[in-house]
Amino acid sequence: KRVALLISGGGSNMVKLVESMQGDHPARAVLVGSNDPEAGGLKKAAAMGVPTFAVDHRPYKGDRAAFEAELQRQLEEAQPDIICLAGFMRVLTEGFVRNWEGRMLNIHPSLLPKYKGLHTHQRALDAGDDVAGCTVHLVTPELDDGPILGQARVPVQAGDTADTLAARVLVQEHKLYPAVLRRFVSGDQTLLTLD
Ligand code: GRF
Repeated sequence: KRVALLISGGGSNMVKLVESMQGDHPARAVLVGSNDPEAGGLKKAAAMGVPTFAVDHRPYKGDRAAFEAELQRQLEEAQPDIICLAGFMRVLTEGFVRNWEGRMLNIHPSLLPKYKGLHTHQRALDAGDDVAGCTVHLVTPELDDGPILGQARVPVQAGDTADTLAARVLVQEHKLYPAVLRRFVSGDQTLLTLD
């Protein structure tokens, strides 16, 4: 199976996913793309031998459809079977999602359905939650709302800030996403829970 990954920044999740596919694995990373030409993850992908591209979303301003048309064009060239959104910070329209529905995954840094959207860790702290975590889900047109494929839970500790909690969750993201992808590639969509 051919996997394309989309990032917006450092791409730490992308790196772990690409590394997970370098050994004996039914899938391989064929392309890494970003909406930011300066995304640090693009260099990391290139260093791992994965072709990269960037479609800077800024020149498109509010024309989301035009941005997505170029994104789609670049993706189609690599003919991926699966797309992994990994720290990709652009909202995708229904039209784009429909092209890939059922084969586009995302990782979100909360225990969905709680805390869809941004600032998930601060919101969990503000709510006084004892447990936080991350979720890998299939992408559907509604933001952070698709069928859940895997979740990992971490304890919230006294004195946690959004940054310390984010760092603890990120460690679990790096375990969860590769594990979910490996199962997904083999057609297994049963829920994976890491505690
Ligand atoms: C992570 O918190 C991830 O959950 C979110 O983007 C953040 C950065 O991810 N989607 P990465 O280091 O760019 O993979």
